Amino acid sequence: MLQQLSQLEQEALAALADATSAEAVHTVRVRFLGRRGKLTSLLKAMGQLPAEQRPEVGRLTNEVKVRLEEEVSRRLKAIEEEALTEALLTGPVDVTLPGRRPPLGHLHPLTQVLEEIIAIFTSLNFTVAEGPEIETDWYCFEALNMPKDHPARDMQDTFYVADEVVLRTHTSSVQIRVMEHHPPPVRVISPGKVYRCDADITHSPMFHQVEGLLVDEPGRVTFGDLKGVLELFAHRMFGPETAVRFRPSFFPYTEPSAEVDIQCVGCRGGGCRLCKGSGWLEILGSGMVDPNVFAAVGYDPESVVGFAFGMGVERIAMLKYGIDDIRLFFENDARFLAQF
Ligand code: FA5
Ligand code: MG
Repeated sequence: MLQQLSQLEQEALAALADATSAEAVHTVRVRFLGRRGKLTSLLKAMGQLPAEQRPEVGRLTNEVKVRLEEEVSRRLKAIEEEALTEALLTGPVDVTLPGRRPPLGHLHPLTQVLEEIIAIFTSLNFTVAEGPEIETDWYCFEALNMPKDHPARDMQDTFYVADEVVLRTHTSSVQIRVMEHHPPPVRVISPGKVYRCDADITHSPMFHQVEGLLVDEPGRVTFGDLKGVLELFAHRMFGPETAVRFRPSFFPYTEPSAEVDIQCVGCRGGGCRLCKGSGWLEILGSGMVDPNVFAAVGYDPESVVGFAFGMGVERIAMLKYGIDDIRLFFENDARFLAQF
């Protein structure tokens, strides 16, 4: 039986070597390894062997089977490669066909909008300052005229890292860091990530803000300048015909304060899901810097005046591109991202 087995293997290998087409290889395969093939019949005949020989013969038969299967794959691959080489050598090759371009990515839409915002303000001579995302209570709240028990702290739902350490809820913390290190005049913007316990179609727990701060001598900065700068920004960002609205508001670190809204792109002011029916979407908070903030950073509140603002980058991108769900920015669906 063992002799039969090795004879059968030699026979099959020879037949495979002779096979020059994929079809021929398949035919050989069926003849030896198929359900009614020679190897299978041999296995069936094993029943007549004495019981003590069966395991050994069974094992050897299986080994032959595995070797033959491997040879079949090898032959098929070799035949395929030969055919390809043959086609390349003899067939027509159009060397003028354009190559295949690897797919190219691009900047995330939020990064594009962020860069556009930065470009508008640097063209107005603002410089860029950055600060840490993990911030102490002092920079995020206390120095911004928000004592521990101040109800305004409830305006921003805060992630606490430790007792006195938070994930910054706004980029206003960078105002303090900048003024602590630079005497007036100051003219900076500060872009970056901020965090709040907040989530729906216009609120994300992580989002981006760009802070602005301008401080100079009394008489050189007015609320009119703040309005002018923000209107100029809105018109450059959204086009000169865009409706902008200044709405009285409250922030502990500015007085007077205003929030700025832009006409909703979803409905052009008529009211929709995006603007919760109001026709307007808030993009930023702003105001004249409160004297208590100047005192906290060691400026003389009598000899400086300034304005500040903080805008939401996602909101601006949503308005610019007519996106009605903030979560789309963070889902990384290439079909969405490829549109920008
Ligand atoms: C502030 O964060 C103030 N620090 C802004 C400011 C700076 C006022 C300087 C005065 C002087 P507010 O919480 O409203 O304000 O947030 C500012 C903007 O961030 C909003 O107008 C909105 O565009 C955006 N925003 C707020 N929360 C979210 C959120 N969860 N997801 C996405 N954008 C948000
Ligand atoms: Mg607000």
